[in-house]
Amino acid sequence: MGISLSCGQAKWARSSLGSRALNSGRLVPVPRGIFITLEGLDGSGKTTQIRRLTAWLARRNIEPVVLRQPGGSATGDRIREILLDSRSTGLTPMTEMALMFADRAQAIAEIIQPALDAGKIVLCDRFTDSTEAYQGGGRELGSEIVLDLHRLICGNVQPDLTLLLLPSLEASLIRARRRNDRDQSATGKDEGRFEAEQDAFYYRVWQKYREIAAREPERVIRIEGDLSIDEVHEQIVESVAERLMTATRGV
Ligand code: TYD
Repeated sequence: MGISLSCGQAKWARSSLGSRALNSGRLVPVPRGIFITLEGLDGSGKTTQIRRLTAWLARRNIEPVVLRQPGGSATGDRIREILLDSRSTGLTPMTEMALMFADRAQAIAEIIQPALDAGKIVLCDRFTDSTEAYQGGGRELGSEIVLDLHRLICGNVQPDLTLLLLPSLEASLIRARRRNDRDQSATGKDEGRFEAEQDAFYYRVWQKYREIAAREPERVIRIEGDLSIDEVHEQIVESVAERLMTATRGV
């Protein structure tokens, strides 16, 4: 789908310097923006990479709108608590999926669509691919129901670019579980409902992510293997720069 002006709603005015403008921060955004999502297993390093990418964009005078799912809007943050707290026992897979989409509908209406309409870059930590991977794959609801709900609830809001971080399953799980213990003792907040899942659940999530990437290679860039933070960052900015450049050429 390329930068997919049709699907991804990206439209950036090309300055007289073209691609060099990107490096000098002279790219001038005009409505509509670019929607970039980061995906991966828990513990895949998305949070660090979003921080690095935000700083990289800031050095080019681009201030993205950054959010995470579940959460992001005030209502979404409350939905997040229900979804991630280990005390939410007995949530059915359907309930879980419905809550993920409820959160997403609110984030689209309050944050994502207005930002795209204003010509901004939106960086979202997880989006519908997470629902397909975790509820479709992990909880075994299948892809079709997730994609149907996406069409119904999210309309034509589709990422222009998805960066899928896929370090090894083992490394991700160790990091995620360690992080959750640390966060819980620091904040007293228990967000470990997913981290408590069995390895077989995560294996299904991992497989579904790979399936999504194989189905949509234009949109989904796979960053695989146990790479250093710097190496992952380099691959991310390469893909993002390419998309921004394509967007400038597309106008
Ligand atoms: P979070 O603490 O934000 O994890 P991470 O930093 O790894 O993204 O927790 C989000 C959890 O919610 C994560 O385990 C994945 C899960 N999730 C779903 O199961 N379905 C979804 O649609 C989304 C957005 C997240």
